[in-house]
Amino acid sequence: MSWFNILLTFLLFLHVTLGNEPKSVDEELQKFLHRVNDRLADLYNKEVLAAWQNEIKGPNDLVALLQSDIATQEIISYLKKISTKAAKFKRLNITDEKLKTQLAKIPVVGYEVLDNDDLDTMYAVTTNMSDIYRNVKLCSFTDPNNCNLTLVPDVQHILHSSKNIAEIEFYWLEWRKKTGTAAKDDFIQFVELYRKTAKLNGFAKPSDYWFRDLEENSVEAFDLLDNIMTQLRPLFEQFHAYIRSELRQIYGSELIEHNKPYPQNLAEIFIGNSYRRTEPEWYVNLPYNDVGLPNITEGLFKRALNNSQRMFWNVAEYYRSIGLPQLEEKFWTDNTMPRADTDDVTCWHKAWKYYGNQHVNLSYCPITNEERFMNMFEAISDVYYYQAYQDQPTLFEDEPFPNFSDALGKVFSMAASSPKYLEKLKIIENKFTTKDARINRLYVMGLRTIFLLPVFYVLDRYRVDVIDEKIDVSNNCAYWELTEKYTGAEPPIVRTNNDFDAPAKLLMEVDDQYTSHLMSTVLQFQLYKRFCELTGQYKQDDPNLPLDLCDLSNQTIIGPLLLDAISLGSSKSYKDIIYMLTNDNELKLDGLLEYFQPLYDWLVEQNKLRNEEIGWTNSDRCVS
Ligand SMILES: *[C@@H]1O[C@H](CO)[C@@H](O)[C@H](O)[C@H]1NC(C)=O
Ligand SMILES: *[C@@H]1O[C@H](CO)[C@@H](O)[C@H](O)[C@H]1NC(C)=O
Ligand SMILES: *[C@@H]1O[C@H](CO)[C@@H](O)[C@H](O)[C@H]1NC(C)=O
Ligand SMILES: *[C@@H]1O[C@H](CO)[C@@H](O)[C@H](O)[C@H]1NC(C)=O
Ligand SMILES: *[C@@H]1O[C@H](CO)[C@@H](O)[C@H](O)[C@H]1NC(C)=O
Ligand SMILES: *[C@@H]1O[C@H](CO)[C@@H](O)[C@H](O)[C@H]1NC(C)=O
Ligand SMILES: *[C@@H]1O[C@H](CO)[C@@H](O)[C@H](O)[C@H]1NC(C)=O
Ligand SMILES: *[C@@H]1O[C@H](CO)[C@@H](O)[C@H](O)[C@H]1NC(C)=O
Repeated sequence: MSWFNILLTFLLFLHVTLGNEPKSVDEELQKFLHRVNDRLADLYNKEVLAAWQNEIKGPNDLVALLQSDIATQEIISYLKKISTKAAKFKRLNITDEKLKTQLAKIPVVGYEVLDNDDLDTMYAVTTNMSDIYRNVKLCSFTDPNNCNLTLVPDVQHILHSSKNIAEIEFYWLEWRKKTGTAAKDDFIQFVELYRKTAKLNGFAKPSDYWFRDLEENSVEAFDLLDNIMTQLRPLFEQFHAYIRSELRQIYGSELIEHNKPYPQNLAEIFIGNSYRRTEPEWYVNLPYNDVGLPNITEGLFKRALNNSQRMFWNVAEYYRSIGLPQLEEKFWTDNTMPRADTDDVTCWHKAWKYYGNQHVNLSYCPITNEERFMNMFEAISDVYYYQAYQDQPTLFEDEPFPNFSDALGKVFSMAASSPKYLEKLKIIENKFTTKDARINRLYVMGLRTIFLLPVFYVLDRYRVDVIDEKIDVSNNCAYWELTEKYTGAEPPIVRTNNDFDAPAKLLMEVDDQYTSHLMSTVLQFQLYKRFCELTGQYKQDDPNLPLDLCDLSNQTIIGPLLLDAISLGSSKSYKDIIYMLTNDNELKLDGLLEYFQPLYDWLVEQNKLRNEEIGWTNSDRCVS
């Protein structure tokens, strides 16, 4: 052989190996993913079935509880088993983008990556912390000998009606004493182990691990969130000034000082009351009290939408009217069951997705009222969502970010709560589309929506800065600085770095993230705006077509648009899916701002009339 032939053979050989290798890797990966998808479908189904049993038989069904535990353990050990192989594939050059995306969707093992001692500690501290919040008993203000009040419902109930400042302050402090300091050591250990977990799972920074479900690193995530907070600011400041002025009317100007953040405890009670509108004793003044709010519950009964089945079919008809396939007639008999536990606080409708086989179930809450009617729109939206992506591989049978599906459901419950639609259904009278009635509705919705966004932001921002070592756990004042800056609230009494106030706000789940709640809320209004514009139901600056009155029923172009996007499951990034639905290539706050524009204008006017100052100077209530 000449040198040329040798070279040629070598080149051919090289060509063959280089040309073939990626293909065979792809093939091998394809086989691997096929097995993973099948196995996960089995395991996930076991878990769902156990949870469904729990739902319809009640939380005391021990067999279901046990099965649920076993299923969860099986999933964890399976993920552990395949993690090495998955990691190996990740290091190879995969050419097929779809396979690559699936590979990236294999859930990380999370804390299970820790060694046994660390893992035991992690479970112990997280259990400890949630036990502290769950089991905490507070002493009574009126009877110091009684120290067995629970936060919910005992103290909550007292605070709902108390006008006694000393009493309100007492419980605020009592709650922090019994939860904060008690959880501090556990929280410190949690933070250390969280950092370790992130590192062992291959993330550059703990905060990147925190945001892993968004497919964004923490810098990108906070760029987005900061941007949203900045855009929200003018509306938030006007609303804040107005609420501060309302609080001042209730509590006087000594407690609610001019130009200062308002006391967190009093603001929380005021804002919290907006959730209790259905209770007649609700005492927050509406902008126009004489007009009031419609009693939708009463309207439902009047229209004989007086049980869950009737509500279900009414809502199913709504979805058909926007161009989605009609739910099968036997859906109600074959795929629904009443929920066992009918506690008014926890009883909601819920769609259940199963993996691998073609069906979705719905458990419903057998209570009939406004909240459950609106909730039915959300539950049936999920039914369509789960059906739409059921042909995707298991790893893609998911939403593109946590809480994404909530945004969709809420688009439709919001559209259904539009006075125009309710009037069409003859549930309410026509007087609720007037300017004054609209302001009342936007005011209550605003209390429930706008004030939450900065709180979500602060909860995540604080924890992320702690895990990234930008804030020391012992720096309690750093938590209050964030709270003050973004939420305009301060502690009712002076705090120091010996206190530990953050965890009292972290609810029970210490690693539950709020960024996705925030994103979901923003997306909800972005989608609503888009759908309303597309169907000619909303035109910016047209006083006859304001966004808050937009009614989407019978707009048949929405269904197909929706199906295209949601049938993709999580196979595309959330930005791609938002682009399909809105033509925007990112999350945008415009929808929310335009929705609340009439309220914003009204607030500006009222604040001027009342001569209210906007914004706040620094608080001196935390001394480091
Ligand atoms: C994968 O591809 C990149 C660039 O395309 C290259 O730098 C790298 O060496 C390749 N890795 C392997 C394992 O082939
Ligand atoms: C859990 O709490 C108990 C009682 O508060 C405490 O004795 C124990 O040390 C805590 N465990 C851990 C791992 O922090
Ligand atoms: C504490 O709770 C128990 C029941 O849980 C009740 O019987 C008892 O009266 C309560 N103690 C006080 C001082 O109220
Ligand atoms: C609305 O109507 C229902 C049923 O008639 C009634 O029970 C409820 O108290 C009313 N709510 C308000 C806020 O008036
Ligand atoms: C519901 O409405 C139907 C039809 O109007 C009526 O026959 C029935 O008694 C109502 N049920 C309740 C619980 O109000
Ligand atoms: C779905 O609900 C029906 C009741 O309507 C029940 O018989 C069935 O077992 C449920 N399916 C699953 C997979 O849980
Ligand atoms: C996000 O999801 C959680 C868990 O399902 C839920 O509790 C929460 O209400 C959701 N948030 C929003 C804004 O939908
Ligand atoms: C939708 O349109 C049909 C006929 O065009 C009408 O009968 C029906 O009442 C409309 N539904 C809604 C919810 O507007």
